[in-house]
Amino acid sequence: MYSEQQQKQLQQLTTNLLSTQAINVQDKLAALPVVDDLHQVLKYHDWRYYVLAEPTIKDVDYDYLFDYLKRIETAQPDLLKPDSPTQRVARGLSEDFPTVPHTVPMLSLAKAYKPDDLRDWDTSVKKLLEEDEIEYIIEPKFDGASIALVYENNLLIRGATRGNGAEGDDITNNIKTLATIPLSANFAKAGLHKVELRGEVVIHKKKFEQLNKDRAAKGEKLLSNPRNSAAGALRQKDSSKVAERKLEAFIYQMGYAANNKAENQLYNLATHGKSMQLLYQQGFKTPLTSANDNSNVLQGMEAVIEACNKWQAKRDAYPYEIDGIVIKVNNYKLQDIAGATSHHPRWAIALKFDAQQAMTILEDITFQVGRTGAITPVANLKTVNVAGANISNASLHNADFIKDKDIQVGDTVVIERAGDVIPYIVRSIPEKRDGSQKPVEFPSNCPVCESALEKPEEEIVWRCVNMECPAQVEARIIHFVSKNAMDIAGLGKDIVKRFFKDKLLQRIPDIYQLPYDQIQTLDGWGEKSVVKLRDSVAASKDQELNRLIIGLGIRDVGGTTAKLLAQTVTELEELANWNEEQLMELPDVGPKVAANICQFFSNEQSLRLIKDLKSAGVNTHRKESEAASEGGQFQGLIFLFTGALQELKRNEAKKMVEDRGGKVVSAVSKKLNYLVVGEAPGSKLKKAQKIETIKIISEAEFLEMVD
Ligand code: IVH
Repeated sequence: MYSEQQQKQLQQLTTNLLSTQAINVQDKLAALPVVDDLHQVLKYHDWRYYVLAEPTIKDVDYDYLFDYLKRIETAQPDLLKPDSPTQRVARGLSEDFPTVPHTVPMLSLAKAYKPDDLRDWDTSVKKLLEEDEIEYIIEPKFDGASIALVYENNLLIRGATRGNGAEGDDITNNIKTLATIPLSANFAKAGLHKVELRGEVVIHKKKFEQLNKDRAAKGEKLLSNPRNSAAGALRQKDSSKVAERKLEAFIYQMGYAANNKAENQLYNLATHGKSMQLLYQQGFKTPLTSANDNSNVLQGMEAVIEACNKWQAKRDAYPYEIDGIVIKVNNYKLQDIAGATSHHPRWAIALKFDAQQAMTILEDITFQVGRTGAITPVANLKTVNVAGANISNASLHNADFIKDKDIQVGDTVVIERAGDVIPYIVRSIPEKRDGSQKPVEFPSNCPVCESALEKPEEEIVWRCVNMECPAQVEARIIHFVSKNAMDIAGLGKDIVKRFFKDKLLQRIPDIYQLPYDQIQTLDGWGEKSVVKLRDSVAASKDQELNRLIIGLGIRDVGGTTAKLLAQTVTELEELANWNEEQLMELPDVGPKVAANICQFFSNEQSLRLIKDLKSAGVNTHRKESEAASEGGQFQGLIFLFTGALQELKRNEAKKMVEDRGGKVVSAVSKKLNYLVVGEAPGSKLKKAQKIETIKIISEAEFLEMVD
């Protein structure tokens, strides 16, 4: 980016700016050259700090220069340029992000899991390109959130999320707060008028840890992992919040580059490696470690495999989360010949790393009682660090899981954390037993209320069937207030637990009669927090009917069924008049769900609960926003997707159907109109083939229908 010589000059310029007297900011003639100097100097120090992580200026000095530039720009607004270092600052709340098309679609990557997959792929690439050996370039596969950046006439004009690959959300203002993304770059020097760059927004592992420490200290909710917090931060409505998350962007692809005749210029850059060097020189953060870094360009697949092994070994020590290595054909002409499927380019592949595992001791087992009385065994583990997170418990799911995995108390177990935080017990290591291990004994009575546990023949879960069991009651309240249900933000899980223990909250309707005067006197509570609590409780009275239905906690009734029920009735209590047959006519309601709904509405306690909520002022009517969209293309039609879809993600496909008035279900039944079949469909296809009225179509046919 900067030669030794330039760096020296900029360092000197910094010293000059700091030591000479500030000009009168009103004096435009005097300000002009100073603005120029300040731009150069601040941009240089941003680069040293954010890209190299090797600052050569004190924070106070940087702040002084930054402030100096700002004062001039305020006094002389016409000296404010769009790429001024001051323009990274947050812009306050934005509306919903508008959707913007990508210049070239953002595809996925083909995946390999072992060296032989790479060898097979190499063989097919060589055949396709009619070459004996291919020059590859390898890079870490960053585990963050993908973005696309558009520069026109050297200026950053747009930043967008990946979205569905064809179009994403315009998050330009948020993107501009990332100091690793230059607001301008000299692409004109390389004859480029418009470029679209692709990259990944990530958080440094250490910064992520610190972020969570700070949040813990403030009593805020912890962020689950760097990837989710990067993705979440990019979509913050308030761009000042984005800056808090300390995001950085690695640029890993030049997706499009055109000269002023709008002709593709990638060929002039010759190779992907050369583009990366150009980007490095222009101050972008790239997978390269220096302006001429060539070390990631490798001849032939064996050299690639060897390099991948080295990467796998140093993965933990790498400062950013990575989940594999991306291998690309280096030469742009060859990339072009190889082309792409609708899902991924044929010139690149990702070697995915194994999920990170660790060994530890299963010290004890706690049996937890869930909302529906289900008893879940949870392993208490000797704390161990896996992929950057301290793990001390993991679910053992049910008795069958324990039996299948031959798990005993005191066993050494292998645990895994795949991408996300939820740890999973992969297996036990029986060879490590020393005689002190004990078989897991499942309780026959509820660990909380001591009533006898039951298990119907066909189920695998033991249950406490005492509806009044305190553990169940507490879990039902937690469920009622949760984000997917009534979403009472001021009444989090830990607060419910505390209120429940203190007997301030014993049944769901108590939420609407909380003794606020008493709460205000509790440890950690004050006037402000009580107002917040009271407001969010009051707001929940006006929630949509489907959320209330979710909140009631009817077994097997989740978001989709709740929405359907809310569309079907205008008032909650009508459901009490529906019998199982009528319910089963609704899409996605099978015999089990129908029986659960009927049982719920014939139960005295449930009816009292509804009555009490109603008299507390909770809305039990369908809202206008919940009515089924009328007259869409798929009005009244029911779809099911099975197998791996190539073009669409499941939730995208679902949305496409729902936006057009149709419904998506999860089980094959006579009610189904269309089964959309992806790759490697399973039993659902077989089942559907037996029902004549179901139309079986491919993903491509579905997309055609939608077009
Ligand atoms: S190249 C046309 N290179 O992986 C394909 N992608 O499955 C271009 N990713 O969401 C992708 N690091 O954001 C490429 N060094 C890298 C990458 C990378 C992470 C992400 C990318 C996309 C996913 C593709």
